[in-house]
Order: sequence, then structure tokens, then C-alpha cells
Amino acid sequence: MHAWLCETLDGVNALKWRELPTPEPKPGEVRIAIKAASLNFPDLLIVEGKYQHKPPLPFVPGAEFAGTIDAVGEGVKHLKPGMAVAAIAGTGGFGTHACVDATRVIPLPSGFALEDGAAFAFTYGTSHHALMDRGALQAGETVLVLGAAGGVGTAAIQIAKAAGARVIAAASTDEKCALCRELGADDTINYTRDNLRDALKALTGGKGPDVVYDPVGGDLTEQAFRSIAWRGRLLVIGFANGPIPALPLNLALLKGASVVGVFWGEFAKREPQKNAACLMQLAAWYMEGKIKPVIEHKLPMAQLKEAFALMGSRQVRGKVVLVN
Ligand SMILES: NC(=O)c1ccc[n+]([C@@H]2O[C@H](COP(=O)([O-])OP(=O)(O)OC[C@H]3O[C@@H](n4cnc5c(N)ncnc54)[C@H](OP(=O)(O)O)[C@@H]3O)[C@@H](O)[C@H]2O)c1
Repeated sequence: MHAWLCETLDGVNALKWRELPTPEPKPGEVRIAIKAASLNFPDLLIVEGKYQHKPPLPFVPGAEFAGTIDAVGEGVKHLKPGMAVAAIAGTGGFGTHACVDATRVIPLPSGFALEDGAAFAFTYGTSHHALMDRGALQAGETVLVLGAAGGVGTAAIQIAKAAGARVIAAASTDEKCALCRELGADDTINYTRDNLRDALKALTGGKGPDVVYDPVGGDLTEQAFRSIAWRGRLLVIGFANGPIPALPLNLALLKGASVVGVFWGEFAKREPQKNAACLMQLAAWYMEGKIKPVIEHKLPMAQLKEAFALMGSRQVRGKVVLVN
């Protein structure tokens, strides 16, 4: 097998494409012949030692992937060779094969494309848990999605629309805003050009959004929170922009508003049954055509560095997928 190996925490440029012995699955594991793996922002952080989860070196990065089971370890009963599956394993996806704990493997229903399966659970799981569970989003409410053309952002637009909400999508370019409208956003704001607070005031008649979905951070967070509606919920998803913002807490008092943390990986670990129910709802929406990952770039697995460069330079709309 071949895989991208992280031997030092010096970032993407230090990753090495290595030939490795094909591993045999241990008890409780399966081996997956990987067809596709998607890039998620944490993949960029984990190879710099900046992610919450710090695997021992050396490791193969790649949190999310899909393929076909080609070997099954002792004690695994519900997964069989030949089954099409997706895996959220934290690591292991940027290669040709990976052994994965069977509890981290999700069988894909027939008709679910492997490339979509590799770009699904992380972003849609996060956005569903954020909007529906942590944000208690109701039909008819207004959601502001920041970084709306990115991986979790595009999923958030589709889920909020499927839940009957009005979506205001905000992004840094007109091209990104156009994609958001194609995905169903009711209105868009280009926050490079327009003042976010003025635009929100105009679009909501001064009321503000009920829910703010924020994977970006930086200066945008306080601007959005200052504009939030009475009883609004600010969903803290991530800090793609870098700096972790601080907020004056009087703003929460004045609006009767909440700052709500979202950590999908921990939710999936601590509340597996609730997470499984979310994923089933999402799979049903996928089969009904209500949601579908936006895959703008599909590159061969060996071009991982080019794929990361696209993501790091903010050029991607939706997801980047690497294929074998
Ligand atoms: N809490 C959780 O459970 C959870 C789960 C998954 C991901 N996350 C976090 O969510 C964030 C987004 O993840 P993602 O996979 O959706 O990433 P992504 O596809 O790269 O999207 C991130 C978006 O952030 C915006 N952005 C603003 N400044 C940026 C910068 N300096 N560099 C890169 N992007 C910048 C970009 O939109 P514009 O150009 O339009 O501004 C970009 O589309 C990350 O911080 C990630 O760690 C959290």
C-alpha cells in the first residue's frame, strides 16, 4: 500500500508519500481499500500539532474516507468484504488502504456515491448537530451562515433549508455567494465588500438573525453577535480565520442571547446513539436529494499537497476530494 506519512509536525510540506506494508486488521477492525478521502480543516491542523487530537508520530492523516471493505478482523460480524462504507477514523485516510475500528465505519446504502460518502459525515454531522441539536433551529427562523461556501458552511445552508429556515449566507467573494444561492440560500452577503452589520439590518428589517453559524471567527464573530436577534444563538464552530475572538458578555445580556459551543467529534463519542440518529436523518435527506456534498475539486491521492494548497489559500467552494 501507499500512504502520506506525517513523521514530524512541520505541516503539509513535510508529508511523505511512502510505500508501507499492507496492514492486517486486528480483532474488532476492518481493512478498507480506499476509493476517496476528503479534506477537512482539522486535517490541516493535525499535521502541525495544532488540533485537539494529537496522534503519536508517525501517522497517516486523513480523517474521513470511503471505500470497500477488503478484509475483516476477528469478532466483526456486521461488516463483510465487498461492502461499501464510509469511515470517520480521525487519521488513516490519505492512502490506498487503512485498518479501522469497526465502530468508526458506516455502511453506505446502495445509491450513495463513494465520493459523496467520503465528504459527508464530518461536515453534515457537524452542521446537523450544530443547527438542530445545539441551536434548536425552528422552521421559519433566520440563520446567518458565515464562511458559507466552505465545507461545513455548504452543509449548513442545505440542512437549514431542509429544516424550513431562511438562510442568509455570507462569504468573501461574489463567486462564493453565487454558489450559496445555487444551494438554496435566500440572501447572500459578500463580507469583503459589504459591512456585515448594515447588510444584516437591511435583510432582517433590523431584527437580526435568530441563529449565527460561525466556523470563521476573527472580527466577524463580534459583528454577527452584535446583530443577533432577541433570544439568538451564536454557534461556535471553529476559527478558520485564525484568531480566537473574545466577546463582551454584556451583548449576551442585552439580547437574551446564548453562545453555544459545538464539538461534533466529542458529541459522536459521548452520545453515539443520538449521533447515529442524526446520520440516519442525513442519509435519508441525501437519498431524497435534499442534501448533496459540493465537490469542486477531485484530485489523485498523490496530489495531496496541491489539494491542501487550494484549501489553505481559501480558494475552495465546498469540498476537495482525493481519489485512488
Ligand atoms: N466544531 C466542530 O465540531 C467542527 C467540525 C468540523 C469543522 N470545524 C471547524 O470549522 C472550520 C471550517 O472547516 P471547513 O472544513 O468547513 O473548512 P473550509 O472548507 O476551508 O471552510 C472554511 C471557510 O472559512 C473561511 N475563511 C476565512 N478566513 C480564512 C482563512 N484565513 N483561511 C481559510 N479559510 C478562511 C473561508 O470562507 P470565506 O473565504 O468565504 O471567508 C472558508 O470557506 C474549521 O475551523 C474547522 O476546524 C469544527
